[in-house]
This record gives sequence, C-alpha cells and structure tokens, in this order.
Amino acid sequence: MYLDPEDEQVLAGELGETRQKMLELLVALGKVFGAEKLVPIRSAQVSGASYKTIGEYGLAWLSTLDAKAVVPAVLNPIGMPRGRWQEMGISEDFARNQNAVVAAYERLGIGLECTCTPYYLRETSYGDHLAWSESSAVSYANSVIGARTNREGGPGALAAAIIGKTPCYGFHLDEHRKPQVIVRVQADTRDWSIAHFGALGYHTGKLVGNRIPFFSGLEAAHPDQLKGLGAAMAATGAVALYHVEGVTPEAVKVPFDLSGLEVITVETDEIEALFRHMPVDVVAVGCPHCSPRELEEIARLLKGKLVLKPFYVFAAQGVIGKNQRTVDAIEKSGARVFADTCMVVSPVMEQYSAIMVNSGKALAYVPDMCAAVARIGTIEDCVKVATE
Ligand code: F3S
Repeated sequence: MYLDPEDEQVLAGELGETRQKMLELLVALGKVFGAEKLVPIRSAQVSGASYKTIGEYGLAWLSTLDAKAVVPAVLNPIGMPRGRWQEMGISEDFARNQNAVVAAYERLGIGLECTCTPYYLRETSYGDHLAWSESSAVSYANSVIGARTNREGGPGALAAAIIGKTPCYGFHLDEHRKPQVIVRVQADTRDWSIAHFGALGYHTGKLVGNRIPFFSGLEAAHPDQLKGLGAAMAATGAVALYHVEGVTPEAVKVPFDLSGLEVITVETDEIEALFRHMPVDVVAVGCPHCSPRELEEIARLLKGKLVLKPFYVFAAQGVIGKNQRTVDAIEKSGARVFADTCMVVSPVMEQYSAIMVNSGKALAYVPDMCAAVARIGTIEDCVKVATE
C-alpha cells in the first residue's frame, strides 16, 4: 500500500506509539481488503462508546492510548444521557464507568456528541470520504448524502480519527457502489410514515442481505423516511448503501446499468403485517436519533396531553440544544427527551418487557439487546398508546 513520507514517519514510531499503532491497524485493514492507498477523511464517528457494550476491557484498552484526533469526530450513543442519568434511573456504578469511557475518548480528542446522526451536527457533502461506524449513520451517509464510508469497527474509526485517513477500499471506490439487486415496491408509498419506511427496511434487509439494493416505485418525501429505511436494512441485513430511483443522489447522477439484476418485489401486505397490535409498557422513539422535524411532530402530537406510560425520545445533544422550545413542549407532557443514548444501548430499557417503537431498526434490535418484545407503529400510534 502506498504511504506518504509522513505516514512512513508515523509507522516508524517517530510521532508516538499510539499513532504508530493506529496506523499499523489501518495498514493491516487496508492489506486485508486490498486497498492501494489511504484516503483523507472529513470526519469520523466512533462506536464502542457504551459501557454496556465495551465493558471493563474496552475501557482498559482506551486508557492505554495517548494521541489526539486530527479530524472532527463524534461518538456513537452511550449508555446514558450524560447530564441526566439519575433521571433515567441509571445506577451510580454504571454512570461512573460510562463517564470513565467518555473521559477516555475526550482525552483522545473525540467530540462529546454521542449520536448516530452526526449529519445533523456537521455538514457532510456528496463525495466526502468518512470513517463512520454506526450502521444507520453509514447507510445515511452513503445513500442519502452520497458521501463515502465503509462500516468501520470502533477501533478502525478511532484510528482513522487519529491519523486523519482511512484505507481506500469498498464504498470509497465507484466500482463498489453499483446496485446489485432491484427492489420493486408495489405499494402506494406517498402517504407512508417513517415507521412504514422502517418496516420496509426491516423486511427488505432480510431479503437482500449485504447486497446494494436499487429501489423502484418508492416515493420518499423526506430524508427522515430514508433514514428509517436505511437504518432497518442495516439491522436485518447488512446494507450499507442503497439507491432509490429518482431520489438518492447517485441514483440521480450515475447512469447505473441495471440489466441482468435479480428483481425482488415487495407488496403493501408484507409491510402492513409487521404492524401488530399488542400491549406495551413503554414507548421509545428516536432510532436513529430524531431530526428537528421529528421533534416538532412529536411536540405537535403531544400538545395538551399527558403521557400515562413512560415515553422516551432520543436525539443528539446538538439537535436538542438548537430546538429547546420544542423539547420543552414535549417534556410538558411527561415524555422525556434524552441526548447521548438510545433505547438499545441504555441498560434502562431492560426493565421493560414490551417496547413500542416507530423504527424498523429498533424492531429488529430490541428483542436481543433489551430482552423485550417490540411493537412497531407510526408516531401517531406511539402517542396514542402512551396517552390513552
Ligand atoms: Fe441510533 Fe441507537 Fe437506533 S444508536 S440507530 S438510536 S439503536
């Protein structure tokens, strides 16, 4: 793999042991995947931030590192809202360990936004090279923005943040971004909610696995719908990039050759069948973290109502800070809007046995990660279930 003179210096250990180890990791990754060079990145998003997932060994490893990120970088959601963990019922023991993880990342120059939606905080543009970890963020960056990132593991993204580059293979290259299967949606999707797009992603991910789908017949009115679609496909399949005819940027700009591709048809009934009715004991929305528009919608639906069940809303701290009046309006109902964490990575959700969500990704992850059954519904359904 080609390395420039500064990389060679780093590799020789002249700029510190941590930088040396981080570059060794990137070079090893590049060799495995056949990268010919490293490519400079605009930003990194680092997973492995929740103490629930990395535990004491992960924390011990982080504590041995000594270097600073050289590009803007954020963390994936952690196990608790940093400023309000008592309110969420997090134990002191967990909070102490989680704060130690966050402090270790801070020492490495990683920004303390803990979110799966870094694209709401920092402009990310078509063609940008990134090193992002979280699968829904990767899907959104590749598909909705047209930026380029592989699905990095936590250490790979951290190494990229510290070196400012990532191995150039996979989704960084044009030849690995072409559609591999056509998904024909035979449904009138014009009035579909974000939850319906999430349910479509949940269903489609199982059908396409890790291939790059090209959707036809899908009318998406807002990127929030695509966010829900991609997040779910990344959860039930391993889809890191998809295209939607006439909608996503590469589907519009690049004249893809679709001849000879397998065609999978998805019909309305298959999606509606996922919207099962069952009693739940909590509602959790914001998977992926809510956009400002989603927060406004929740505030509108909750106006003048009180929640009778716990109702959690998750969003990035930066989004909450810029939309404080909307957040206050939501919390007036008794619902809680938390930053930094989510229903999957927080240990608090484990106390519930049935969780209502409006996300196809949460529908997929809740059973294993929270040991609870999950029900998907529209945001209107979620509000109704929590307030009636
Ligand atoms: Fe984000 Fe947590 Fe969902 S990390 S995509 S809110 S599972």
